[in-house]
Amino acid sequence: MFQRYQIQHQVHYGPTGRGYDPLSKMSRSEMVHRYENQQSRLRLLHDRYGSLLSYQDGDSFLDLGCGTGQNIRWLAGAFPQSCLCGVDTNRAALDLVRTVSSSEDIVLVERDLSEAESTSWLASKQYDHIIFSHSFSLMIGPSRYETRQMRSRLLEATKMAATKSIVILDDMSFETAPTIQPEQRTRGVVTEDLFVYFDGEQKWSVCMVPYEAGRALVATKHRN
Ligand SMILES: C[S@@+](CC[C@H](N)C(=O)[O-])C[C@H]1O[C@@H](n2cnc3c(N)ncnc32)[C@H](O)[C@@H]1O
Repeated sequence: MFQRYQIQHQVHYGPTGRGYDPLSKMSRSEMVHRYENQQSRLRLLHDRYGSLLSYQDGDSFLDLGCGTGQNIRWLAGAFPQSCLCGVDTNRAALDLVRTVSSSEDIVLVERDLSEAESTSWLASKQYDHIIFSHSFSLMIGPSRYETRQMRSRLLEATKMAATKSIVILDDMSFETAPTIQPEQRTRGVVTEDLFVYFDGEQKWSVCMVPYEAGRALVATKHRN
């Protein structure tokens, strides 16, 4: 199952996959329409837990698996002085954000976050806030063991790179090991207890909160 969905995801979110199939054929006005009408899950979380997140205008944000900029669009409007970076594996999704967004303070990076090289890239960065919005559940390795190892490395790098907060908006469970939930023919999500990745952590406070679109893990870094 793990290997099957790992391969299927590369197809689903690849240049000809179902994930973003219509994007490369869109006119500019269709792109604008799509960009402007997207809903940000992060905004929904922020509406309810703004004081927990403590986002400030001028803080820097990194959105991992940013897609077509659902959260980036909201962040750019809500925090106009902030630098924003979005990472995604799908070039057409990033091109849509590049084409339509007006802000020069948005950096877009094409990367496969499941690759070891992306982990070292991430560990060398510094952002105040890092967000995985319905993308962490897509981080799948070829086996259950390798999925846990890869997700562990990715979150360790995220902890090194984040100076204030990490948010994971996603499907979650209380399973102690990564488990695949098939969703579509070419898409399955990994669910598990995400607290395991913060076990014994001295520098981070972690909580799970319900919000309008599901549940979110919010980790905030202690100030020294
Ligand atoms: C369900 S969409 C979520 C988009 C957006 N973050 C949101 O909240 O609506 C998942 C995104 O993760 C990206 N993605 C999936 N696997 C990835 C990987 N290994 N590396 C980088 N991005 C990935 C997909 O291309 C897609 O844009």
